[in-house]
Amino acid sequence: MDAMEAILSRRSTRKYKPEAVPKELMDELLNAAMNAPSAGNEQPWYFIVIQNRKILDEIPKFHPFANCLKESPQAIVVCADLKLLKHPEPWWAQDCSAATENILIAAYAKGLGARWVGVYPIEDRINGMKELLGLPQEIIPVCIVAIGYPAEKTPFESRYQSSRVRYNRW
Ligand SMILES: Cc1cc2nc3c(=O)[nH]c(=O)nc-3n(C[C@H](O)[C@H](O)[C@H](O)COP(=O)(O)O)c2cc1C
Repeated sequence: MDAMEAILSRRSTRKYKPEAVPKELMDELLNAAMNAPSAGNEQPWYFIVIQNRKILDEIPKFHPFANCLKESPQAIVVCADLKLLKHPEPWWAQDCSAATENILIAAYAKGLGARWVGVYPIEDRINGMKELLGLPQEIIPVCIVAIGYPAEKTPFESRYQSSRVRYNRW
């Protein structure tokens, strides 16, 4: 699958098969994540792979939109490490978002399903994840990516809207 096809036809997966994704494939997703662009090339991220069903099942108890994690056999928590920042400007949420999008596209291109489950900047969700995973103070959970083999097909629809484009000025 070429890059444009993956970007245009990727859609979020809600339903997953119970089979675990092999480690080599998870490593490919992590490799995609770590090759994302980041401000000043700081790469201020950590990735926590969760494969433990009990831990995954805890998340929807404090996150109201995380039901997909009840089915996905694994997830990657994308975190920022504030201690890795060398620049004063807070670009880390955008850096971690770029890494997250790389995971979504790589997963889809490899025949997997995935879904971005937002955490930052909602305080209850950040605190819930910090407590659940024992995160140090400087580690901020930005989002959780549910990952697994898809058990549903999501229909393609083009979202291109020429009315949302301006040239040179508003
Ligand atoms: C910042 C962000 C936060 C999101 N949070 C959630 C979430 O908490 N739960 C969820 O099921 N989906 C979440 N999503 C997935 C969106 O609902 C989904 O991307 C959107 O409906 C567009 O559908 P698509 O991914 O199939 O193109 C989130 C997506 C983004 C970018």
